[in-house]
Amino acid sequence: MSDAMQAPRPGPDDTNVPDERTKVHRAETKTRTPVEAKREGPTLDVVKNDERVKVFIRSANQQTGAIGYTEHGERHANTSADGARFILKSLGHDVRRCEIAAVAAYLHDMGNVVTREKHAQTGALVAKDILMDLGFPLEEVATMMGAIANHEEDEGGLPVSAVSAAVIIADKSDVHRSRVRNPKSTSFDIHDRVNYAVTASEIKVSRKEKLITLELAVDTEVSPIMEYFEIFLPRMMLSRRAAEFLHCNFALVINNTRLL
Ligand SMILES: [Fe+2]
Ligand SMILES: [Fe+2]
Repeated sequence: MSDAMQAPRPGPDDTNVPDERTKVHRAETKTRTPVEAKREGPTLDVVKNDERVKVFIRSANQQTGAIGYTEHGERHANTSADGARFILKSLGHDVRRCEIAAVAAYLHDMGNVVTREKHAQTGALVAKDILMDLGFPLEEVATMMGAIANHEEDEGGLPVSAVSAAVIIADKSDVHRSRVRNPKSTSFDIHDRVNYAVTASEIKVSRKEKLITLELAVDTEVSPIMEYFEIFLPRMMLSRRAAEFLHCNFALVINNTRLL
């Protein structure tokens, strides 16, 4: 049996998905009112306001910067959280699962506060204590631990739940020039170049077509498309696997041309 067949099916559509039109991820999607959120359990806002989360993400960002990686701070955390919530909401998953996906995505790179290597696994353990302290039910904590621990393609990550699949796609989709920290374009490495070349990045989800699309605008004067594939092909393969877990195909569109 394939992963896709084992994946939990989307629940009833209680997210006010208006119809089967293609959705475009542009801004944060609100899935419920604050009153509803309270009734259902801790939310992303509670996690964002936790002092440990603030300090650990800030420190993780500084430490990844010190060893030459792109931005891994609150901007990346927020973009990933919005993306993961958007993907599951667009596919009709229930509001609580959307919230859990947003929280897991927000915390997915926090393990960089320990070391870059194995940051997915350490991040899951760091998150576990905080999430339990904040009152998340044990089953939700377990789902988020699996999602955080499995987000990294070069650490053996694989989609293990719908939440995990959404975190993977949202994380891998966050390629943008704003993540480049090297101020000197003359000393850009290939990662800087590819990230800097991406001037727009958008996730689209069509529930009707069962299709998740990553659309990028790439400045080919900065980096040829080939360089994107040179460094990001494993990420795209993992994204495709994650989309399959959600019973969808995955498409990559660069400069209006479908390449995957
Ligand atoms: Fe990561
Ligand atoms: Fe990430």
